[in-house]
Order: sequence, then C-alpha cells, then structure tokens
Amino acid sequence: MTDASEIRKSFEENGQGHIFAGWDTLSADEQAALLDDCNRVNFDWIKTRVAEVREDHGTDFSKCDLKPAPVIVLPESEEEKKKEAEARATGEAALKAGKLAAFLVAGGQGTRLGFDGPKGCYEVGPLTGKTLFQWHAEQILALAKRHGATIPWYIMTSRTNHVDTVKYFEENNYLGFDKKDVMFFQQRMVPSVDFDGKLILADKCGLALNPDGHGGSLHALVESGAIADMKKRGIETISYFQVDNPLVTICDPVFAGYHLQAGAEMSSKILNKAYPEEKVGHICYCDGKLTVIEYSDMDEGNMYAKDENGKLKFWAGSIAIHMLSVDFVDKIGGEAKLPWHIAKKKIPFYNGTEVVTPEEANGIKFETFVFDSLPMTSASITMEVAREEEFAPVKNKSGIDSADSCRQLLSNRFAKWLKAAGVDVAHNAEGDSECVIEISPLFALDADELKSKLPAGTTAGDKLLLE
Ligand code: UD1
Repeated sequence: MTDASEIRKSFEENGQGHIFAGWDTLSADEQAALLDDCNRVNFDWIKTRVAEVREDHGTDFSKCDLKPAPVIVLPESEEEKKKEAEARATGEAALKAGKLAAFLVAGGQGTRLGFDGPKGCYEVGPLTGKTLFQWHAEQILALAKRHGATIPWYIMTSRTNHVDTVKYFEENNYLGFDKKDVMFFQQRMVPSVDFDGKLILADKCGLALNPDGHGGSLHALVESGAIADMKKRGIETISYFQVDNPLVTICDPVFAGYHLQAGAEMSSKILNKAYPEEKVGHICYCDGKLTVIEYSDMDEGNMYAKDENGKLKFWAGSIAIHMLSVDFVDKIGGEAKLPWHIAKKKIPFYNGTEVVTPEEANGIKFETFVFDSLPMTSASITMEVAREEEFAPVKNKSGIDSADSCRQLLSNRFAKWLKAAGVDVAHNAEGDSECVIEISPLFALDADELKSKLPAGTTAGDKLLLE
C-alpha cells in the first residue's frame, strides 16, 4: 500500500485518523517519511495488543505453582570441581573447532542512563575510559587468540542507534576485528500507543515506535541472514549477552560446555540475589515450565519466601546471559510467538507545534523478552556465577548499577585477581579496592592468565593499568 489517500483512509477507518491532522502542512519529504512509518502499522496487531492491555493480560504469577529451578552451583566439592573441569574441556573443544559465536543485543534505547548515543559507546574503563563496545571486542579477540579460532561477532541494533553504532565501529577500525567477522543487523520497531490505544506522533512526520524488545532478536537473527551465516561458518552455539555488563564472560567455555553436554537449546547464567527486591529476573519453574519472572512481575509472597534453611526460595537471579543453540533459534526464530509485555512510559509527542516530553507516563511500549523462549526448550541448564566475577551492569546515571559502581566493581575484580597472584591491594571498610585497576582482556582474560603474565615486582598503589 503506497497511495497516500488509501493509507489515510485506512487510518481513519481504524480510529487513527489523528495521525494525518497536519498532513497538508508537511513538505513532500515529510509526507513521504510519515507514509513510510504508517506503512509499517499493522492494525490487527495494535488491536490485539490494546485488547490484551484492557483485559489485563499479564500473568498473575501468584496463582501459578512456582518452584525453584535446578542450578549448577559454584563448585566447592571435588566432584563439582571435576564436573566443571569436564565442562570447560567440552567448551574449549567447541571454541577451538570454531563452533561458537558472540551475539550482542544492543538495540535498546538506554533511556534510564540518559546517554545520547548507543549505550555501547559509554565509557567504563576505570583508567582508560574504554567503551563498553571496546571491552567486549577485546574479550572476544583475546579468547579467539587463546583458542586459535575465529569468533564472529553478531550485533543487533535498532533504528534508534544503528547508524551511530556502525559509524563508531567504522571510525574505530572495527575495534581490531576483521570487518567480515562483525555483522550488524536491526531488530523490528513496533508502534507505541497512548492509554486510549491511539498511535502517537513522535514528531511532525514520524510515529512513536520502539524496538520490539530483545525477544525480537530471535526473529532478527533469522530474518537478517545471521543464522544462515552462522551455519555456513559451522557455528552451533550462540553466546548471547547484553551491552551493559563489561564483566560478562563472553563464550564462557564452562557455560558452553555444560550447555553442550546437556544437549540444551537455551541456557542461562544466574547469581545469588543480593536482596529480595534486587532488579533481576527470577529463574524458576512456573506450572512445570522453566520461566524467568521479571522482578516487577514477582508477587511479594514469592519474592520474600524462604526455604527450610532460611535462604531465599527464589534466590536465582537471571543476569541475561544465555547460550542458544543455532538450531533452536532457526526452529523458533521466524515464528517465535513470544508474549508481549507492556511498559508504561513517558513518550515524547508532537502536539501540532512542538515536541513535548511529558512529566508523567502517557503511553505504552510493547516488548518481547528473549527469556520467554525458555519454556519452549526441550533441554536447558542454569549455571550459577560469582557476582564479583561476572556482573557489573551500567543502567542508571548514578547510584546502584551506574558507571561509577561499574568502574569500582571492575577494580574490585582485578584486585581479587591480583591478590591471587600475590599482589597486595588496599581495600576500604566497604571491601572496595582503593587502587583503581584496569586490566585489558588482551592482557589477561582471567586470574590464572594474570598470574602467569604479571611482571615481577608489580605493586598496586593508587592506580594500576595493564594492557
Ligand atoms: C534486564 C533483564 C533482567 C536482568 C537484567 C540483568 C529484561 C526485561 N530484564 O533488565 O531480567 O536481570 O537485565 O542486567 O530484559 N535490548 C535490545 N532491544 C530491545 C530492548 C533491549 O537490544 O528492544 C537490549 C539492550 O540494548 C540491553 C539489553 O537488551 O543490552 C537489556 O535491556 P534493558 O531494557 O536494559 O533490560 P533491564 O530492564 O535492565
């Protein structure tokens, strides 16, 4: 459908005629831009979503039978350590055979951080100001080198940040990657609506659209040809991670090993929640199906429930790090019927003269979540990781999960590695490293590598940079 009058008629018939209120004042280019957005609108999809909101479609998890999921816990006993070593060997063999790919979801809008640009361009290096993208790149390159293999990197962006993301990579020499081993693709955008189900004009000639959530990655991996490219390269397992966490162990051989040994289709890393309300998803069985229940959807009874040992019953917090089998994504990707979640947001709108940012939530964004594909898996493993080794997300401008807390957590992790290598690091009363430390993944990927490479006589004063 390209004819303007036909499109306008269909908008009027579907109660969305207000979008064309200023049509006659638009230039030809502006009209073309608005039509382009309007052509993406599927009225049936909107009607179904709005009906779901009106019927309060969200699952009331307090009515479900919730049980903790089995977890491969941090190894303590000899038996557990032996199993971990076996998993590591399996994962390393897959890495050496070039069967793993790194997959970054970076299509989000990052509104909480209030950073003008792709979140991956945010600077987190405690001493160098290295960006999130660069941390991830160095880690993948170092791991590939260690295993003598290529690890291709697939990056999902969205219309909100695609151009800037690709530009950043181009201007920075693909962060050391061979260009052919980095593939960018965009996820879909879906319309936001106001509380009456009406589409919103984001500016004079564009609809308010938002990326379709990281669940959209399953569809986008297939539609973009990324899965076909992986198959051509012999990739069998996808290491999925979010842009905001520089501590993530990408293509973790232990995690990949457990996942492969179990013949799993999708697996998850979790950590022991720091406190009941911590803003991480809960991984559990819901009416017999493996499920992640977002912090905002967990009822209070279950959130605070304790087991017979006085430990939080739902202690396993998802940190959004997964392994996915290529065949699983290929099987469900194009058709993934993930549920739509709603988020009430402040959505900037065009009032006929200017763009206004409302003080209160004025509309709804619809998103799908990748972890909603867990119930569709035939096999899955859940593995615990140590918080200080693997979780330091940058989500907020200040306080918890901010760039400042992330930099401190990076220093803390490196201080732990240094201590294991025999170097003393001063800590304050809170247990934070007083030395600002940055160790490039290209220098050492883990504590053992650091120990083997550390120059004799290294000391940690106020600052220590190893790269
Ligand atoms: C997320 C998880 C939460 C987990 C926590 C760990 C959800 C709903 N919740 O929370 O269970 O415990 O991380 O840090 O995901 N993204 C896209 N496209 C989109 C939306 C998001 O690529 O359409 C990407 C973002 O760029 C980012 C990641 O997904 O890399 C996470 O998105 P975000 O909205 O920040 O999730 P959180 O609510 O922080």
